[in-house]
Amino acid sequence: MDITWDMFIETEVPKDELIISRTDLRGVITYVNETFARISGYSPDELIGQPHNILRHPDMPKVVFKELWDTIEQGEIWRGYIKNLRKDRGYYWVYAEISGVYKDGRLVEYKSMRSWIPKQKRIEMQRIYDDMRLQNRENVRGVSYLDVDTYDKLLQKSEEAGVSVEEYLKNLIEKN
Ligand SMILES: Cc1cc2nc3c(=O)[nH]c(=O)nc-3n(C[C@H](O)[C@H](O)[C@H](O)COP(=O)(O)O)c2cc1C
Repeated sequence: MDITWDMFIETEVPKDELIISRTDLRGVITYVNETFARISGYSPDELIGQPHNILRHPDMPKVVFKELWDTIEQGEIWRGYIKNLRKDRGYYWVYAEISGVYKDGRLVEYKSMRSWIPKQKRIEMQRIYDDMRLQNRENVRGVSYLDVDTYDKLLQKSEEAGVSVEEYLKNLIEKN
């Protein structure tokens, strides 16, 4: 049986450290600091050259990123809360400040600095983002308990069909 409990493990960003990255104008990562790599669970080599959405967590509403891009493309600083996905499918919350880097008055890249946020704020933001996804008819989380045999069959069938478990269930429901 595949045990996916690690999906829910939270990594806490140390209070006295900053997670720093830079991207090109399309959002492809060009630099990460050591804290970024450690907290996300990737090595710097695995991150550099990848689009920044490699960290996108399924709990994040789409509109948050739309607002982020609209803000930085207008030359302003975007500030907000992000839940990020680790390489091991765990997660970590950050407060982020993202803005442009200018050379001779010309926008050349983007930079971001992220830091620790209090537990209470993380809980509040989780609720807000859950509501936003629900209202915008995006992903919702579904938790279900299946007996081991059914669960194994479900995994096997979706693997045979070459789709994720979510996709397999969706197809099944749409067929009926
Ligand atoms: C400098 C910079 C830093 C970013 N940091 C993050 C981040 O930490 N987590 C994240 O999910 N998206 C981050 N983004 C936004 C991603 O580029 C992307 O828009 C987002 O993950 C949503 O994915 P999508 O645009 O493919 O829907 C960052 C973008 C820039 C320019």
